[in-house]
Formats: sequence, structure tokens, C-alpha cells
Amino acid sequence: MNAPFATQQIIQLAYLIATALFILSLKWMSAPSTARHGVRAGELGMLLAIAATLLRHEIVDYRWVATGLALGSILGVPLGLVHMTAVPQRTALSHAFGAFCVALVGTSEYYLRAPHIPPFAMAVLAMEVILGSLTFTGSLMAAGKLQEVLPQRPLTYKGQNVVNFALLGIAVAAAIDLVLHPQHTRMFPLLLTIPLVFGVLMIIPIGAADMPTVISLLNSYAGLSAAAMGFVLDSKLLIIAGALDGSSGFILSVIMSKAMNRSFTNVLFGAFGQVQASAAAEQRARTVRTATVEEAAAILASASSVVIVPGYGMAVAQAQHRVRELYDILTQRGIDVKFAIHPVAGRMPGHMNVLLAEADIPYDKLLDMEAINPDFPQTDVALVIGANDVTNPAARKDPKSPIYGMPILDVDKARTVMVIKRSLSPGFAGIDNELYYLDKTLMLFGDAKAVVGELVRELGGGRS
Ligand code: TAP
Repeated sequence: MNAPFATQQIIQLAYLIATALFILSLKWMSAPSTARHGVRAGELGMLLAIAATLLRHEIVDYRWVATGLALGSILGVPLGLVHMTAVPQRTALSHAFGAFCVALVGTSEYYLRAPHIPPFAMAVLAMEVILGSLTFTGSLMAAGKLQEVLPQRPLTYKGQNVVNFALLGIAVAAAIDLVLHPQHTRMFPLLLTIPLVFGVLMIIPIGAADMPTVISLLNSYAGLSAAAMGFVLDSKLLIIAGALDGSSGFILSVIMSKAMNRSFTNVLFGAFGQVQASAAAEQRARTVRTATVEEAAAILASASSVVIVPGYGMAVAQAQHRVRELYDILTQRGIDVKFAIHPVAGRMPGHMNVLLAEADIPYDKLLDMEAINPDFPQTDVALVIGANDVTNPAARKDPKSPIYGMPILDVDKARTVMVIKRSLSPGFAGIDNELYYLDKTLMLFGDAKAVVGELVRELGGGRS
């Protein structure tokens, strides 16, 4: 029995508005000043889509829906409250759940409809199940690597790519067989299980440093599998939302790869993270210049221009509010203060923008790498707070460096460089940073929040 005409119209209208909100959401999220609207629009779109779906006549028992809603909320609320530095692994878990759900829906659709499945429907169903399954285990592996419950280094062995592609080939062959003979139900378990194994093996040779890019790619797979599910279930909303998710995830991965000067194949098959081990082992004993907080405060006070370069360490230390205090006090002294934002600083796209926005730093003071780099030669002090790889001049100068060619912030061109970090430990890429050994560089060893707090106090501001 179909839902009444009026209800159907309401559902379609709600889907249309939800689609428009998803598109607007993506557009707004591309700039810091409109990102909050983007999040609200996405949330509203999703709420509308869920509410409209609950009106559909196919839903026969709301008790199951309510149980799912309660279980999802019990799992989802704590997941949404994780610390911001854990957002990449949290995102990977969300992809894993979404993709698992897609694979399950595909499986139930197959067994409900087989053997009467037309070739096109079977082809998209197979794509849905393959992508859903491999994204499920791939995302779980990615989350495990980032959470450090699995080894972070790439694990490689001879013939690894051949084994992986052979497995994928078997799954594709099973899919083709099912398209031609949907009644071959014994092939279906292959379609489901082989990609599950492939998802694990696909992530093993990838180092943790590349996980954010891989997660974005898995996001793209999850979106594509949802779009395929849209074809299977004849849902235009799912097709559009899945396509938006698939393409935006893919574009983001391309942007990240570009920002690291890496190709996709290098990210996926380059085993990045092994080279660094030997590079780190070659570290020579070299000396650095250190400064006390008093000396650093005096240098800052006499500067007329300061560029603050935040990185992952600022996020870990949650130093953004202290950084805001430092910004205020330097600005009050008539010093020109700007922030240099590298596209892959931190551990997720827009990580630094989000943190600095949280501390209400004016958006117009946040400058992208291309905009700020020409300013460094005229800058009195570049103050690096917990950033490392994104400032490493080896990326520009040393063809043997694993990060050679990665665009970096030209911090070393400033008149004086001050670096706040706890030790000389390497950053995410696992390599030594030439910047620390320059004559113009002063190291301020310590936790970013504590050191910036001390600088603020020394300059006459702060809470105590
Ligand atoms: P990193 O190179 O990872 O360096 C962060 C530095 O912060 C470390 O050297 C660490 O040194 C310091 N640190 C950690 N905790 C600290 C604390 N409490 N106080 C002060 N310092 C602290 O960070 P980055 O420069 O932001 O570079 C990001 C890296 O992630 C790049 O390699 C990039 O390619 C990779 N990556 C990022 C993304 C995205 S989308 N953001 C995507 C893919 C890859 P100590 O231990 O000595 O303190």
C-alpha cells in the first residue's frame, strides 16, 4: 500500500530541502567565516532526511527504529565528545559504521531479491557491498593505527601489491558472475568477505602519517557505496548525498596529497614511514640555541611584526586560548601579528582554523601558506608553536629528504625564529628538522600551553 499522496509530496519536498542543505553545507564549510553555518545546515539537512524517511510507508515497525535510534545515540554521543586531536580516528570509526551498514543493507537486498535482480541493479549492489565491506575493515584499521592500538609503521612484504590486487580481482570476478547469473547465491559470500580481508591488507602497508589522507579516501569510498545503495533502494537523496560525500572526500584527499607533494599511489603503496626510520637514525649530534622565557618575551616586545605558526603541538597542548592572550597583548603593544596556516598542519583538514576560531582569533589574521610565505623575509619573529614538519626547510633543500618537494611555511626566512616544543623529537613524518639548528633559531623547550602562558605573564598580561 502506498503512502497517501500528500505524505509522499511532503517526503519529496523534505528530501529536496535536505539535498539543498547538504550542498550549501559543503559550500559554507569551505571558509572559516561560514563554517559554523555549514555545520548547522548539514545537521538540519540530516534531521529532515531522517524525519522524512520515518514517514515512509515501508516502515512497518517503529519499535525497531526506536531501538536503533537508542543504540546509535548511546554509541554516538560519547564518540562526538572525543578530544579534537582524536577526531581523525573518530571520523574513521564513523565511516566504518556507515560502510558496515551499507554492506548489510546490500546483503539483505540481495537475499530478498535474488534471483530476480536485473543486471544493472546487481552491478550497483555488488559495488555497494564491495566498497562497503572494504571501507568497514579499512576504516577500523585506520582508526586503530591512529589510536596507536595497532602498529603505526607500515608493514610490507614481497609481492604485497600482487596479493592485494589478486584478492580484489577475485571479488570483482564474483561480482561479474553474479551480474550474469544472480542465482549463483554461493558466490555472494565471496563478494562480502574478500573485500573485508582486502580492507585490512590495504591499510597494513600504509604508515600512520598517511592515515588522514587515507581516511579521506575511505570517506570517499563510503560515499560512493552509499550512492550505489541509493540506486539499489531507488533513493535519489542517497544517490545525491553519497555522490557529494564521495566527491568531496576524493577532492580533500587530492588537496592533502598535493600539500604533501605526494601522489595517490605514493600514499597508498609508498610505505611512507619506513624511510624516516633510517633518516632519523642518521641524526647527527648537533647543538641548538635555547632561550629563556624572559629573553623570548624581550625579543617579541621589541618586534614590529610577528607571525605565529601553529601546529599539532598547539592542538595537543590545547594552547589556543593562551595563544589568543599572547595575540591580544602583542597587538595592544602595536605589533602586527598574523597566523600562518599550513594546509596539513595538525592532524585533520582545517585543524588549526577550528582551534584558533574556538579562541576567537579574527579570521582575517589567519593566512594560508601561499598568502603568508612572501611575508616571512620582512617578519621580525616567526613564533612556531608545536609545528614541525610543515616548517622543515629540508622539504625545499634536501632532495634525499622523504618530505622533499612538500610545500612548507618559509619560517626560516624570518629574521628570528622561535620554536616552542618539548624536545628535539621529530614530528609526524619522523624526520629531523633543519630549522632548529639555524643560528637565527631559538628553542623554548616546554609544553606549548605552559610556555605561551609564561610568555603572556612576562609581557604583562594573563590571568595571574
Ligand atoms: P608535527 O610535524 O606532527 O609536529 C608536531 C610537534 O608538536 C612535534 O614535533 C612535538 O614535538 C610537538 N608537540 C607535541 N606535543 C606538544 C606539546 N604539548 N607542547 C608543545 N609541543 C608539542 O606537526 P605539524 O607541523 O602540524 O605537521 C603535521 C603533520 O601531519 C605533517 O607531517 C603532515 O604531513 C601530517 N599530516 C597532516 C594531515 C592534516 S590534514 N593535517 C594529513 C596528513 C598528514 P615534541 O614532542 O618535542 O614536543
